[in-house]
Amino acid sequence: MATSFAGGEMAKAIKHLQAVVQEIDEPLPGVKRLVLADQDGWRLPAFRPGAHVDLHLANGLVRTYSLCNDPADCRRYVVAVKREDAGRGGSRHIHDELRTGEIIGVSVPRSGLAFSSEAMNIFIAGGIGVTPFVSAILALEREGRTNYVLHWASMGEPCLIDVLEPAVKAGRVCLYNTLEVAPPDIHSLVQGYGEEAKAFCCGPGGMLDAFEAAVADWPEERKHVERFTPPKLAPTRTARPYSVVLAKSGREMEVAPEVGLLATLEAMDADISVSCAGGICGACRTRWVEGPPIHRDRVLSPEERVHEVIVCVAECAGPRLVLDI
Ligand code: FES
Repeated sequence: MATSFAGGEMAKAIKHLQAVVQEIDEPLPGVKRLVLADQDGWRLPAFRPGAHVDLHLANGLVRTYSLCNDPADCRRYVVAVKREDAGRGGSRHIHDELRTGEIIGVSVPRSGLAFSSEAMNIFIAGGIGVTPFVSAILALEREGRTNYVLHWASMGEPCLIDVLEPAVKAGRVCLYNTLEVAPPDIHSLVQGYGEEAKAFCCGPGGMLDAFEAAVADWPEERKHVERFTPPKLAPTRTARPYSVVLAKSGREMEVAPEVGLLATLEAMDADISVSCAGGICGACRTRWVEGPPIHRDRVLSPEERVHEVIVCVAECAGPRLVLDI
């Protein structure tokens, strides 16, 4: 990625910034909420409702979290992190080690949710899976738009309910405490909002599977899934080695099937950001100029795949994959 200036000079686009951890609180046991801000109080890069950022933690881990504040407020980024004892270590570090005043790397926000402006937007969340919908609901409420509903299943008290209080009071949030009631039947739930409604889901694997089954025959532009953990990937169709080429430097290396593209790029010290390493967060999104790649991600649309590739899971159908980096 590069930015062109009036003088014709090219400069590398900013991908990361340094932010200070301004506040940490625990709105619910096991969930930490971080407020991140510029060290000198400058505005942070703007973001779309439902966008996420990568946090570059002091232990070397990079983890992706949804922004949970109103996109109109770019003086801060707010993220909520549930402690996952069986996870890969990012949430444990945030819960046990991260302190107010610490400086951490934060990526420029990316992605976001594309709402329907006229039809109903159905948000379906399980527990902490509400996070991508919080900034979306804050933005919709600020704009006076009421064409949305949040169906939110939570085992016990839901987290971040304080931020969504106005939406709850307005009757646009349906809460299901699964300690007391059955979780919603997603299939019948999504059928109830008309032929044009758009549905979004984020939550545990079982909920996502039920959602994907319920909207299996919906067109792609009417459904959206946010995943916490990468799904299992089917084996690649090719076991042939190929070359990966970095167009800007001309560097080239063979990608052995047992090594894979991402490890090869890391060995080349290529300028790639990596977070989930499983094709769901979009951190490693890169433009390609020769291939074609074999796409295996859950991030890019068919139109985006014409020029971009998620390199952490992609392979190549031809003898050379040339990346525009
Ligand atoms: S690192 Fe998350 S999609 Fe590649």
